[in-house]
Amino acid sequence: MNVHESEKISGLLNSHGYSKTYDIENADIIVFNTCCIRDTAEKKILSKIGDLKALKRKNKDLIIAIVGCMTQQKGKAENILKSYNYVDIILGSNNHLDLVKYINELPKKKKIIKIESLENNNLIENFPICRDSKYKAYVNITYGCNNYCTYCIVPYVRGSEISRDPEKIISEITNLLKNGVKEITLLGQNVNSYKFENVDFNKLLSMIDNIDVVENFWIRFMTSHPKDFNSEIIETIANSKHLCKSIHLPLQSGSNKILNLMNRKYTREQYLNIIKNIKDNIPNCGITTDIMVGFPYETEKDFLDTIDILEKAKFINAFTFVYSKRNGTPASEMPQISAEIKKDRIMRLIKKQNEIAKNLSNKYINNTYTAFVESYDNKNKHFITRLEDGKQVNINSSDKSILGTFVKVKIINAGISALLGEII
Ligand code: 5AD
Ligand code: SF4
Repeated sequence: MNVHESEKISGLLNSHGYSKTYDIENADIIVFNTCCIRDTAEKKILSKIGDLKALKRKNKDLIIAIVGCMTQQKGKAENILKSYNYVDIILGSNNHLDLVKYINELPKKKKIIKIESLENNNLIENFPICRDSKYKAYVNITYGCNNYCTYCIVPYVRGSEISRDPEKIISEITNLLKNGVKEITLLGQNVNSYKFENVDFNKLLSMIDNIDVVENFWIRFMTSHPKDFNSEIIETIANSKHLCKSIHLPLQSGSNKILNLMNRKYTREQYLNIIKNIKDNIPNCGITTDIMVGFPYETEKDFLDTIDILEKAKFINAFTFVYSKRNGTPASEMPQISAEIKKDRIMRLIKKQNEIAKNLSNKYINNTYTAFVESYDNKNKHFITRLEDGKQVNINSSDKSILGTFVKVKIINAGISALLGEII
């Protein structure tokens, strides 16, 4: 989500004559697009802002701007300016598209802070986007979130959920496809609750699947919410031409007590039913998840319930997090678990998931698949490709023309997170 927001900021600056530089010493403007979903993300950004003090001393004309959801927290912008008085502009996640306007105002004003909430009528469309890839792209379908999971800061900093007009979505996707993009990921905090007039998520998926400007393309979407993930979506994917057999379905916890405290609105039994339904109807579907350990009141038994779901669901990949307290959320008022227990649980969780992922990865060996060649990894000197189920396959090839195309690959080796393949 944030990567795509950065593409928009980059597009905006580009359209006003600025260009990207990889040499920070020579930059005229440095923009930090921040995230505050976890404490670690926030600390990392603050330390990077701290590193800029010397640069600003050397170059008085350097403009430093902080944008994104971290600034949207109560009192945060003022605190940043207090600790880092060399920062020039702070914009909320709904004001960053006005960045150029504020840059131009800077000579008159010494510091600029603008933090506003998003309203339906200020959803900006048709702005320039400087996409990182020519072949894969992100497309927002919703903004904000209404779910108020008790650990999560997103609804407070990003505001209520707004669905984008389906016509605008279809037109953006059609243009991307006409321009050679082959893989599109639909984005939203909870894409399943998309609703614009009489178009719900399922209808939107069918509309996108029926786009016929090019023959070959793949559609993915994230993030789903188990409380809204219904069997119609499964049916639509199973019968589609372009929707990938890949679903990211955050579990968070395998314990009913913790799920309830998290306000997730589903039980472990309901979650496992969805997994069964997916596996029964979409053969070889890659299911991935987000899991958190150390939420308030989590006991060893609750943690073992999470491990139990890991064993049953067999995720091809799991993003694992240690719960971190976010000010202003209901969970921040609950009794917190010790850092040692959190550390012990996250290590056991990762170990278990790695075993599961490795076993699943081995099953790909000697089989052949269609893979989409996403990018070239200059550091490791291989192409990064992805299968329909989301599994990454690295490929050694000297043929640069395969970039952005679908190729047939045979899997020759398997690691935990990526496979090794060769073109056949
Ligand atoms: N602490 C730790 N992880 C969090 N996530 C969201 N909020 C927190 C938090 N306070 C995780 C959830 C979510 C993912 C994007 O980030 O697992 O699905
Ligand atoms: Fe946060 Fe829950 Fe919304 Fe996801 S669904 S963004 S975890 S409140």
